[in-house]
Amino acid sequence: MEELSRRKALMAGGALGALGVLGAAVPANARALWTWSQRGAVPAAGGPTPAEIWDTVADPVIASLLERGDVPKVNELLRTWIRNDQPLPDGLPTDVRDLLEELRQLPSWVDHDKLAQAFDFYKRRGLYLGVLYAMASGMVSTVIPKEARAVYYSYGGANMKDRISKTAKLGYDIGTQNAYVPDGSMIITSVKTRIVHAAVRHLLPQSPHWNDAAPEEIPISQADTMVTWHSLATTVMRKMREWEIPISDDDAEAYLHVWQVTAHMLGVRDEYIPKSWDEANSQADQVLTPILEPTPEGKDLANILLDMGKDLDGTVLTRPLLGSFTRYTLGDQIADWLEIPKEPVFDPLINTFWRPFIAAREFGLNFPGSKETYFLFEEFIRQVVLVYLSEANFPISIEIPTHNRPS
Ligand code: HEM
Repeated sequence: MEELSRRKALMAGGALGALGVLGAAVPANARALWTWSQRGAVPAAGGPTPAEIWDTVADPVIASLLERGDVPKVNELLRTWIRNDQPLPDGLPTDVRDLLEELRQLPSWVDHDKLAQAFDFYKRRGLYLGVLYAMASGMVSTVIPKEARAVYYSYGGANMKDRISKTAKLGYDIGTQNAYVPDGSMIITSVKTRIVHAAVRHLLPQSPHWNDAAPEEIPISQADTMVTWHSLATTVMRKMREWEIPISDDDAEAYLHVWQVTAHMLGVRDEYIPKSWDEANSQADQVLTPILEPTPEGKDLANILLDMGKDLDGTVLTRPLLGSFTRYTLGDQIADWLEIPKEPVFDPLINTFWRPFIAAREFGLNFPGSKETYFLFEEFIRQVVLVYLSEANFPISIEIPTHNRPS
């Protein structure tokens, strides 16, 4: 109860003053979240840490909407609100309308040239990005304990593959040509995601199951959002570097920019958004890597992801290949946590030939393995992207939940 009152006080904004002043920074001036905190400035001043800040703008409005029972009506009205430049539909409650008008504003520091460059990058590297969002980000999310529990016990937890693939798909969709321009849809998708997160913050604390499992009072803090951000943006960039996929400095910067804009649109305060890949890597080392851990909920989720090819005829997406690729991409520790068995055929095959396969694809170098292996890897990438990020041309359909996972 004491914690809840504390949260209410924080949400009312009083204790945010110190951060608010610093919060005017744009990424160019932004300091990496935890590096900054470690200097002791804000905690020493008695202010909240990012783990104690949620969404002071959206949370109160969405909590009130849920309590008034108006969510189904708002969901219905918002179903046709899809394009970035589309006016809000008539009939929305005034507080919701005002909120959405506020949330749909792009940050003043958005750079459309960089967004255009990011699109070009996605066009050239889309297959790798797709396979990494699905297999690296999707799988890492199962060992992020807070995220795994939140997803598991919230409404969408009953269809977990769909939930995780929606998060990965958001990562993929931000690379579309028109993502943040008027005829695109990413502004709307991000705003809807932001209000879904606000609803989850109101609903999950009412779930006895989540309360039993989770060590926190309120889910999806600013810190948690940046952890997930790193599981997407930073993890994917790191893997592409590791695989020696050529990425120019301009491409890397543009890719970072699209993710900075997305973090802002999801409600992350600018002072927590890393300004460079160096900062992002150092933040990820501090906030993502050390918190990874298996949970029963995450294992369940991983299990579902590994079965993604189960109902497909003639697919290469068998459980052994998906498991082996997970082990290769995320390492033995995570694979063992997820109880993924070692694969006597696929493990050595991927270890020996994946990088030469990338080199052959990228530079036209001779592939030292068999034709069958090349074909297997090629099909693997293609099918993961197809199956996991299906409906790639459609915006994710997002509705505000009214309940937790039915149990
Ligand atoms: C919902 C993306 C961070 C937990 C969603 C949805 C998207 C999304 C696209 C809507 C999907 C739908 O239609 O149901 C993201 C991105 C994040 C992020 C891009 C960070 C960059 C987080 C974090 C948590 C979380 C940190 C928990 C710790 C959830 C939950 C739902 C949700 C529980 C609602 C599930 C439901 O009941 O349907 N997120 N998310 N998300 N997200 Fe996130």
